[in-house]
Amino acid sequence: MKREANGLPAHVAIIMDGNGRWARRRALPRYFGHREGVKALKTVVRYAAQRGIPILTVYAFSTENWRRPREEVEFLLDLMFKTFVQEIEELQKEGVRVRLVGDRTSLSEQVKEVWIKAEEFTAHNTRLVLNVAFNYGGRAELTSAVRALARQVAQGELKPEDITEEAIARELYTWPSPDPDLIIRTGGEQRLSNFLLWQAAYSELYVTDVLWPDFGEQEFEQALQDYLKRERRFGQVSVKEQNG
Ligand code: IPE
Ligand code: IPE
Ligand code: MG
Repeated sequence: MKREANGLPAHVAIIMDGNGRWARRRALPRYFGHREGVKALKTVVRYAAQRGIPILTVYAFSTENWRRPREEVEFLLDLMFKTFVQEIEELQKEGVRVRLVGDRTSLSEQVKEVWIKAEEFTAHNTRLVLNVAFNYGGRAELTSAVRALARQVAQGELKPEDITEEAIARELYTWPSPDPDLIIRTGGEQRLSNFLLWQAAYSELYVTDVLWPDFGEQEFEQALQDYLKRERRFGQVSVKEQNG
């Protein structure tokens, strides 16, 4: 597993949760929380780039989030749309490469087009890769990977024995990003909610009660510092024990 020279994670993934609760605590409608959440996202993207973290993946909208009331879904789609249109120049200036990580096939033409444009426009940036998990579900992702591999086998392009862990990883939306080293969840829930099921195999988990709109540089740095203290064993015996 790759580790950055400074020990910081090479890939941080964030489940940005708690927007609704943030608003409710202020007796405001939920969408105020989503709007405020965009501000937190901007701060976090800037800080990740500043800290030299090469890949950031954020969970923006899950395949299950379609089950929310229609008005909320529409608000979220519209917010995503407007944010990208507004921020794309800034992202470009900051050297951020944007990638959509999710099911493109079921998105409307208009939404798809925004993504394709954003990806093309920022394709040459190298400072930070920003994977936006949008219309993302870990099970949907694995299902689509299995289908792609089955198709290759049916067409005689691939032998069943050639279906290795890497062959599977190559068919995931996140390819070619490596697995996340650190997964942060705000809002306090201790679950993955269908996020990066395959990729999270050995990720370090960090849950904070801080609600997403309140998550800033300080909270992010705290998560990084916590990560630096972890010993990642990947199934092996502790390094301390091997040496002692
Ligand atoms: C996360 O905040 C944003 C999305 C899931 C799109 P929530 O909207 O889930 O906020 P809570 O969990 O209800 O507070
Ligand atoms: C996870 O949050 C999805 C995103 C942050 C986009 P949810 O609020 O949808 O998760 P659950 O429903 O609490 O598991
Ligand atoms: Mg939530």
